[in-house]
Amino acid sequence: LSPFPRPSSEEARPSSLNLSHRPRRNRKAEWSRRLVRENVLTANDLIWPIFIVEGASGRQPVGSMPGVERLTIGEAVREAERAASLHIPAVALFPYTDPALRDPTGSESLNSRNLVCRAVREIKKAVPELGIICDVALDPYTSHGHDGVMDGQRILNDETVALLARQAVLQAEAGADIIAPSDMMDGRVGAIRTALDEMGFQDVQIMAYAAKYASAFYGPFRDAIGTSATLVGDKRTYQMDPANANEAMREVLLDLEEGADMIMVKPGLPYLDIVHRVKETFAVPTFAYQVSGEYAMIKAAAANGWIDGERAMMESLLAFKRAGADGILTYFAPQVAEKLKTQG
Ligand code: PBG
Repeated sequence: LSPFPRPSSEEARPSSLNLSHRPRRNRKAEWSRRLVRENVLTANDLIWPIFIVEGASGRQPVGSMPGVERLTIGEAVREAERAASLHIPAVALFPYTDPALRDPTGSESLNSRNLVCRAVREIKKAVPELGIICDVALDPYTSHGHDGVMDGQRILNDETVALLARQAVLQAEAGADIIAPSDMMDGRVGAIRTALDEMGFQDVQIMAYAAKYASAFYGPFRDAIGTSATLVGDKRTYQMDPANANEAMREVLLDLEEGADMIMVKPGLPYLDIVHRVKETFAVPTFAYQVSGEYAMIKAAAANGWIDGERAMMESLLAFKRAGADGILTYFAPQVAEKLKTQG
């Protein structure tokens, strides 16, 4: 005789709710979850942003971005080789410009032998099969840390665009495959397209930071390129108001009309609604930038043992895919690609 009371027939049958729909059925085992999975992250989805610094050799840790380092060109070439071997399609290069070379108009941006142009040449020579993306903006080169030239407190649009178009041509001459204007000046995509075409760079793509918000999440990046201490004021007269979504659609439309080949939304996770709307509305290649602050938050919480950093990394990147992104710029790129490789 059982020491346990016999359940009544009602209690014995878990189906007693008589449900015809039980979504949990498809989740009952790993094989079934794999079978019904709607989105996957692969190495093909990753773009790796890399910080470049002057120097014969070596690496400098970025304090607010644990695991991220500024790389000298030699180290960057090594990491570019690693990126290619991990099947990461492209890297995006960002220079830490020697403060002595920064001035109010960012004139170092027009030096064909500046840090970024030399890095592009070296990486292209060593790893021709890897895509190279160059950011177009003046902020790594200006003494005030803004993305444009200033008249008093104003950021001048048209004067800045003229400089950006020349900067883009120099980067293309160095071997950049994709030009990514991140400055948020009006009309820069069209001007860059015209300038590239005039110089015979019809095949150089433009990935427009079309919907780029004036965000608090860029803080660690500004440490990495050395603009956080010098930035005068904020970027709200050119980067978008985080309150706006319809305006993002207009920005994307204009950039597409001006000839953008791909669209980027930035920051990433807090703006997944924008990523989704852009993809639904325009059905063009759409990218999201998981920016420095997003990376730092995951790293900091993980370092405190408050979240599982690896899982948060994978989940956040998958969320971009679910929202409709074709790819993600992420500082996690090499770590994710390694992980995806071992997972098969
Ligand atoms: C500069 C630029 C920024 C980022 C990419 N390009 C910073 C800014 O606009 O101040 C941010 C990237 C990141 O936070 O990871 N035009």
